[in-house]
Amino acid sequence: MLECAIPEHLRRERTCSVSTPLNYQPPFPGYCARFPTQMKNLVMGIIGAQYDPPSNRYKSSIHVIGTFMTSAPKEVQPSFSEVISVTDKRGAYNIAVLAYWPSTSAYESWEVESRFKRWWQSPEREADGHGWFQEILRPTVDRFETVFSNNENPEGAANMQEIISGEMQEHAYWGSMRDRLAAAQDDRLEGEKCHAANGVPVNGLEGIASKRIHVPGMKNLCVIRSGQDWSDTLPAERKLYLETMHPVLIEGMNFLRDEGREIGCYANNLWDVVDSKTQEASLERTFGLGFFDDLKSLECWSKSHQTHINIFGGFLTYAKKLNNVLSLRLFHEIYVLESDQQHFEYIGCHDETGMLNVLQRT
Ligand code: HEM
Repeated sequence: MLECAIPEHLRRERTCSVSTPLNYQPPFPGYCARFPTQMKNLVMGIIGAQYDPPSNRYKSSIHVIGTFMTSAPKEVQPSFSEVISVTDKRGAYNIAVLAYWPSTSAYESWEVESRFKRWWQSPEREADGHGWFQEILRPTVDRFETVFSNNENPEGAANMQEIISGEMQEHAYWGSMRDRLAAAQDDRLEGEKCHAANGVPVNGLEGIASKRIHVPGMKNLCVIRSGQDWSDTLPAERKLYLETMHPVLIEGMNFLRDEGREIGCYANNLWDVVDSKTQEASLERTFGLGFFDDLKSLECWSKSHQTHINIFGGFLTYAKKLNNVLSLRLFHEIYVLESDQQHFEYIGCHDETGMLNVLQRT
């Protein structure tokens, strides 16, 4: 018996119909996280440093952020965190802690009790000689969904789950992402359309170098974190992944990063998860992190843009070759946020960093 992705306590009368085909049986299993019913919201934060040009001084910055995570009282520490990195399109090296809290109040207590907030707000950060950034997402649980191909290795927010679902119905057809979002039962979740020519005007973006910039939240901003983990693959599958899937994934991610604006994607990067022992990218776990003006724009790209068609089609061939017995693990998280559920702040970062892309160059 297939489970419904939306848990019972978040179900309400639909005014927006589902896209699930009649008598639908998914071609492969998919699972979602079941959070405690009393959980009302969650927080995902990416807090990091930018080095442009790259420098190995990043190790001390990531140590500082990591210490804020671990030195706070246990009750307010993140439920889960790991280190991630990416060299972006400008060639700048970005390294960050990706962390999750089970409520906005836990996150706010952490900010104060770890003394992170005081440290972050100090004018000294503007004189540190490199960039800092924080991208904080605080969705109510009905504005978040996560799905994964494997029910044994929780990723990201799923580390806060009470249980994992049984095999669920709403996946592997176009529109299933929307069907899994509780808030989309009676809301089209329309965002603010972004066009290449418009954005939030900010004077004097030139000379951004030492500035602290807060990017205002946008109505129904849609964020995807879509991950790939091939660390448990055996040599034959690993070879197949690296030769057939990884190249098309990079093409898709580069399209969104470099030309995404025309289809509603403000910013995108393919991040590596960093090995906590070596402090180097492990190169066996990656995730695309994309910011879209509207859930619809993300749907359109995934369903109809050649780059995701190649990824999706490549995956079906890949799975067939392996008779559907895969060690590759895939997951994604979707956030559709109210304006006040976002906090984006950048200090001394180049002007194409993350949501700084939303700002209109003057
Ligand atoms: C959906 C494959 C990477 C965006 C899917 C589905 C598959 C797939 C099989 C249908 C999944 C389901 O509902 O069960 C892959 C593979 C990837 C990959 C093999 C990497 C190796 C990405 C990335 C993004 C992305 C990096 C965006 C940053 C989407 C979206 C959907 C989707 C938005 C949902 C569409 C909908 O339900 O309407 N992908 N994908 N994918 N993928 Fe990918």
